Amino acid sequence: MYRSHNCGQLRMSDVGSEVTLSGWVQKGRDLGGLTFVDLRDRYGITQLVFNMDEDDDLCTKARKMGREYVVQATGMVKERSSKNPNRATGDIEIEVSSFNVLNESKVPPFSIEDETDGGDDLRMKFRYLDIRRSPIQNNIIFRSKLSLETRKYLSDQGFIEVETPFLIKSTPEGARDFVVPSRLNQGQFYALPQSPQTFKQILMVAGIDKYFQIVKCFRDEDLRADRQPEFTQIDCEMSFVHIEDILSTFEGLAKHLFKHTLGIQLEDFPRISYDEALQKYGSDKPDLRFDMSFVEMNTFAKHPGFSLFDEAELIVGICAKGIAEQYSNKDLKDLTEWLQRPQIGAKGLVYVKYQADGSIKSTIGKFYSDEVLLSWAEKFGATKGDILFILCGETEKTRKQLSELRLELGRNLGLMKAVDFKPLWVLDFPLLEWDEEAGRFHAMHHPFTSPKKDDIPRMLNGDHDTMKSLKADAYDLVINGAEIGGGSIRIHDRALQSRNFDLLGFSKEEAEAQFGFLLGAFEYGAPPHGGLAFGFDRLCAVMNGQSSIRDFIAFPKNNQGRDMMIDAPSAIHDVQLKELCLEVKVDKKV
Ligand code: AMO
Repeated sequence: MYRSHNCGQLRMSDVGSEVTLSGWVQKGRDLGGLTFVDLRDRYGITQLVFNMDEDDDLCTKARKMGREYVVQATGMVKERSSKNPNRATGDIEIEVSSFNVLNESKVPPFSIEDETDGGDDLRMKFRYLDIRRSPIQNNIIFRSKLSLETRKYLSDQGFIEVETPFLIKSTPEGARDFVVPSRLNQGQFYALPQSPQTFKQILMVAGIDKYFQIVKCFRDEDLRADRQPEFTQIDCEMSFVHIEDILSTFEGLAKHLFKHTLGIQLEDFPRISYDEALQKYGSDKPDLRFDMSFVEMNTFAKHPGFSLFDEAELIVGICAKGIAEQYSNKDLKDLTEWLQRPQIGAKGLVYVKYQADGSIKSTIGKFYSDEVLLSWAEKFGATKGDILFILCGETEKTRKQLSELRLELGRNLGLMKAVDFKPLWVLDFPLLEWDEEAGRFHAMHHPFTSPKKDDIPRMLNGDHDTMKSLKADAYDLVINGAEIGGGSIRIHDRALQSRNFDLLGFSKEEAEAQFGFLLGAFEYGAPPHGGLAFGFDRLCAVMNGQSSIRDFIAFPKNNQGRDMMIDAPSAIHDVQLKELCLEVKVDKKV
């Protein structure tokens, strides 16, 4: 028997019993006659004590143990004289009577503590050491619980989990595919799925009317904190449903997950349209933990002679409450410079300070009287002590810049609390997006998304400009400013799907070659259907108040898409290349 208990289990009620623990040495302290060793496993840490007076040899042996040695210790549970209230086992210690070193360890390259000194790449190279740290271990345990609760909820709702293949043909979700050469079909390639989109739709045609899968997806795109080249989705599809059925089913899933993992009961999710989200927050994934919504000023702020505003397509501002005294001229200058960085690209920042004494101070005081500026303050619902921040320019850009400013202020003013959760549905996305550079339409969600029913005649017969105004039956779930999931009602009619491919620039032949199987399936009784996918890694991160998904994935890739532990990607043998009929182009040979 390696252990009678784990390292997080023993309490005062165990005092007097003999126990055996196994684990890793977190650290040792040598206090002359007594040697203390913290023994750690995934359940916690228990203090071992070696008493020189009782057993000299044992104590000498204990002192030789280094960090991360794997040890088995047997002894009596004792009440501690100085207790540690920060540790679940902090009331007791084990007075060791015998112990075994089960395995030695080299000195780890970074400290295995909650706050580590290891850089990202080093932690990933030695991921097995990193996973020993409780923050990472807790994330992985959380993830496991979340997938269990997902399966519970969905199977209670009658969903069936179906696996779909990984070696498939390209699915157009907007990123590049990872491809796999086929040995048996030389010169041909599989693509790894960017999502199981077409397969889940085929499953609807096949009569599996409620499908789900917790599934790996692969996208060769630029990496960011919330993006990995392989990530996981909770992927779902339902037949004979309208938007309302989908929103209520998956709002139910999100509520279930929050309740059963965090003990948080979420209120009903608000819903706003895509257009309203852009108008009020400058973003289709607004963070609703704080308000600071936009006030458009074109109708009252234009002023002959002030060309900055007069020539602007949009003048728009936000009101930051109660910061007039707190924000010095230097702070405002810094904020302006922050907005002018190329990443954001604002030309400048106009502010109107409604000071605590009721006076007005503004960068545009030369052009507008205090009375006028006060009337603006009123329109923003501002009171003494607030600052209005105003940007102007081309509509889309200006909204984006103001959205960045809104978030920056939210961060600086502590308005984005990690434990505050504000989900919402964003609805009524445009169906198509015009790409000026490429001179073609892209699907805003994906090519299988249905236009709104009322827009179908316009889609079938309308001109180019009409296409820009079509709305889709598509929706996103946003939590705290992060896009957690997205989906849509799908097209289930062959003619309409063909028209969509046509608008997206696919020739008939291309559409047939790439998606003939789906178009064909639509001719054999495809039911009306729709669905969505949640980004599972993102959901884990957001529920834990974090913006990076990396530490919720056991073995993530770094920003160059490399697995630092196994050192992938890597060159392959010439023999393999030959078998696959691939030319050897790389210098680096195995
Ligand atoms: P979409 O492309 O919106 O929809 O993806 C769904 C969700 O997956 C997450 N996600 C990612 N997470 C981590 N790393 C990535 N690279 C990454 N890319 C996406 C996001 C996103 O909201 N087939 C459709 C769903 C449907 O229509 O049913 C799809 O994949 O949280």
